[in-house]
Amino acid sequence: MPTEQNLFEIVKTTLGVTSIRNNKVNETMHAPLGPWREANELYIEQSNLKTNLSQNTSEEFVIYDVGLGAAANALATLACAKSSSRPVRLVSFEIDLSLLEFALQHSHEFEHFQGYEDAIREILAHKRWTQGNITWELFEGDFLQCVDQVQHKCHLIFYDPYSPHQNQEMWTTDCFKKLKEKCHRDARFYNYSQATPIRAALLEAGFYVGYGKAIGEKETTTEAACQLKDLQRPLDQRWFQRWSRSDTPLPPLCEDAETLKKQIREHEQFQ
Ligand SMILES: C[S@@+](CC[C@H](N)C(=O)[O-])C[C@H]1O[C@@H](n2cnc3c(N)ncnc32)[C@H](O)[C@@H]1O
Repeated sequence: MPTEQNLFEIVKTTLGVTSIRNNKVNETMHAPLGPWREANELYIEQSNLKTNLSQNTSEEFVIYDVGLGAAANALATLACAKSSSRPVRLVSFEIDLSLLEFALQHSHEFEHFQGYEDAIREILAHKRWTQGNITWELFEGDFLQCVDQVQHKCHLIFYDPYSPHQNQEMWTTDCFKKLKEKCHRDARFYNYSQATPIRAALLEAGFYVGYGKAIGEKETTTEAACQLKDLQRPLDQRWFQRWSRSDTPLPPLCEDAETLKKQIREHEQFQ
């Protein structure tokens, strides 16, 4: 069992990129691309964040960063928002700040931390940091409770908890329903998973769900949206047929398989 001292360690991914391993959940974060490439390819570029931020409007663009962790996604967001004329609000959620504290202690290992150390210290100390048009706030605690307290609805969600195997409660239909209540109509969601039960949970929660782009060793990732028209590549009949035949069609902690099956069968996306 890892102690507090060796809970996290600096490791190299199979591609030789520096990352952090959590020895309790047995996961190396951002493998194999490393934190900066994964953050940018999976979340920032795929979501077209830069284009969203270049829109000529004074409406604040709100991004939820679920699972702040070692802050790669958050720092990639801040870097992208740097020259934004549109106001930006980054809302991070984290249940345990020890990973961020560890990453800050090892900031010299990560180029993307350079210049942001004070921002990280401030977010750790005061749960808030502002610069120009950017507001960054942190909700410390369980996302399932914190999300109810957030005032600002989101346009974009970067969803990055540990895997369903380790972090079941973050992948249930109920969790995604709570998230959907906090979405603007044109909100979109990005995540590294390509698992059928996770896509089923998102569908049951009322999202439309699509294939996200291939990243690292994954053939696809997942994009979800509140409107079908906002998806780049919606799951199609082929996915639906595969799901119908799957041995593991049910999301984590699903207790009512019949309702789930009926809801997905009748989901507008597959009509
Ligand atoms: C894979 S790491 C996130 C990596 C991070 N996004 C980054 O860019 O470095 C997953 C994070 O989700 C957090 N987490 C897990 N369950 C949570 C919950 N219920 N509420 C809030 N945060 C949670 C973990 O503590 C962990 O820091």
